[in-house]
Amino acid sequence: MDLKHYLQTNRSQIETALESLLPRPDAPPVRLNQAIRHSLMGGGKRLRPILVLASADAVGGDRSRLLPFACGMECLHTYSLIHDDLPAMDNDDYRRGRPTCHKQFDEATAILAGDALLTLAFELASRPIDGIDPEVVLTAVRQLAVDAGFAGMVGGQMLDLLAENRKVQLDELRIIHRMKTGALIRCACEAGARLGGGNPSQIEALKHYGAAIGLAFQITDDLLDVIGDSHLMGKATGKDQANAKATYPAIMGVPAAQSLASEQVQSALRCLEPFSSVADPLRNLARYIIERTN
Ligand code: IPE
Ligand code: IPE
Ligand code: MG
Ligand code: MG
Ligand code: MG
Repeated sequence: MDLKHYLQTNRSQIETALESLLPRPDAPPVRLNQAIRHSLMGGGKRLRPILVLASADAVGGDRSRLLPFACGMECLHTYSLIHDDLPAMDNDDYRRGRPTCHKQFDEATAILAGDALLTLAFELASRPIDGIDPEVVLTAVRQLAVDAGFAGMVGGQMLDLLAENRKVQLDELRIIHRMKTGALIRCACEAGARLGGGNPSQIEALKHYGAAIGLAFQITDDLLDVIGDSHLMGKATGKDQANAKATYPAIMGVPAAQSLASEQVQSALRCLEPFSSVADPLRNLARYIIERTN
């Protein structure tokens, strides 16, 4: 399987869908809609929506019907990035190869663009899906709400800030990473399996797959902040140390963090054992998560 080609075609399918689902750049309030587009259409790996689609494929679902939900996940993720970059949080100037939203516009506009993307995410995720029981859609939307909120991403962001300048044990760091990043990645896989019509054991398997790659993803993000290339990543490096963040490389060093990420990928691959070659994209995506350079 040619992963590069797979990623490219998936990204372009998602970006075409996003383009049609977003407010027009000339629609009022123009400043807000331009800020939304600046952050959302300015690059990004589109990993979460790709995972929704790939998980639906793995259970024999119809990926085209899941595009609004998948785009909703990208809106939610982009909101989290806009707020994560604010001066009150990580204070970053560069994101997806462009000035961060508050740098290009201003802080109030960035807060509002994030708010608008969060609510747009739920409008998109709750759209009816042809052939899928509305109860099933409701379950996926409710799960998204949980994973995005105090028990998931937002809660993890709070713990991440509270862990700055403090010695953190491995157990605590695992919880932070699972919440701030792992929850949405796991949610993407679980929702794709559910909305793709997967049976309960398939949904459970892809949920565990998502949890494992979700942790591997944030460990790799921490590693790239130390050993990555800022131009390739489209964001600054060395920021975690500067902000005294709790990270895997800070706690255990680069090689140990690398092997932990790769153990998580092995455990994700084991979750896919019951699946045939229809899950090959998920297998390749798991490896990509730790091999990526951006
Ligand atoms: C960055 O996410 C923030 C984390 C959760 C580590 P991504 O690395 O997926 O960022 P984009 O979407 O590709 O810009
Ligand atoms: C962010 O983690 C996780 C989010 C929920 C946005 P980081 O703060 O490490 O992400 P980057 O490195 O800024 O992309
Ligand atoms: Mg952060
Ligand atoms: Mg950050
Ligand atoms: Mg980071």
